[in-house]
Amino acid sequence: MKDLIVVTGGTGYIGSHTAVELMEAGYEVLIIDNLANSQIEVLGGIEKITGKKPPFEKLDLLDRKGVMDCFDRYPAIKAVIHFAAHKAVNESVEKPLMYYENNLLSLINLLNAMKEHGVRHFVFSSSCTVYGQPDKLPVTEQSPIKKASSPYGNTKQIAEEIIEDSILSGDPFDAISLRYFNPVGAHPSAYIGELPLGVPANLVPFITQTAIGIRAELRVFGDDYNTPDGSAIRDYIDVVDLSRAHVTSIKRLISGKNKNALEVFNLGTGKGLSVLEIINAFVKATGVDIKFRVEDRREGDVEQVYADTTLANRILGWKANTTLEETLRSAWKWEQNLRNG
Ligand code: UD1
Repeated sequence: MKDLIVVTGGTGYIGSHTAVELMEAGYEVLIIDNLANSQIEVLGGIEKITGKKPPFEKLDLLDRKGVMDCFDRYPAIKAVIHFAAHKAVNESVEKPLMYYENNLLSLINLLNAMKEHGVRHFVFSSSCTVYGQPDKLPVTEQSPIKKASSPYGNTKQIAEEIIEDSILSGDPFDAISLRYFNPVGAHPSAYIGELPLGVPANLVPFITQTAIGIRAELRVFGDDYNTPDGSAIRDYIDVVDLSRAHVTSIKRLISGKNKNALEVFNLGTGKGLSVLEIINAFVKATGVDIKFRVEDRREGDVEQVYADTTLANRILGWKANTTLEETLRSAWKWEQNLRNG
């Protein structure tokens, strides 16, 4: 029997790409999602790519009994990759309790169900936001965890602590926490991609929506940072590359290479790019012009952050290899498919 991997948040952006990569690597996938921020049609996109529609459970992870029952129904579950969470930084400042409740209780319910059912392998979707503005760049996994600048960021920090404490308890449990930098792009088939609800908060979806004419112009948040062109710097990582790191993480856990530990890996390209560089790269890759205007800095933004990926390269044997041009083209192709069919 093939190993069954649960992907919570599997109809979401990174979850759906990871489901595809897992299936293409030969795993069975069970998607759990409450569809709060994603659409059921994503399963059709996954099927178009892989030739198979994965089993799907519409389930809110806050439903403790529902989670237990779900694990009862699938005794073949071997590991869990946990994406399902709220992720909008600004919203988390306005609704902290909603973020703490959703992101932390769902994690606890999931870990309880795993413990109850003897499922020991766990991959967690974390974020570079745990580093805040690092003192040294590129940022390694050893960099100090700074006080989180938003409740969203704090849920990621606390979640890592909850996972670590679960391991320290001595239960047969091991885990990998993947700290994403800025995931962008879409599957090259354009059958799946990012589906932001309403006005996108993130840069690349805003760029593609401006390019297609949904938004009049892009606002560049700040050109007075201490960076070469004054705009903020991030590490933009292709979503398919990022997804593949989940497959290698699952392989590592199942093969027993990580015994009763929490391992943490940065997932980025190792290269920092400014907002203006991304706009220029998009125009160059697609031939579509982007109207933009510089505005004040966005509250809560850090000046620059990019990853030292040595550890993921060495231990996971993983490396981001999609070029920025390919990534931005995939984002554009996805946006065009979405709007024009
Ligand atoms: C942040 C977090 C990331 C988290 C994500 C969730 C940090 C360093 N990163 O990403 O961990 O998972 O939120 O959403 O804390 N920008 C514009 N105009 C726009 C949109 C964005 O200029 O319309 C700029 C931002 O100011 C920023 C860059 O583009 O400099 C990237 O922004 P965004 O895509 O929102 O991601 P982060 O804020 O870096």
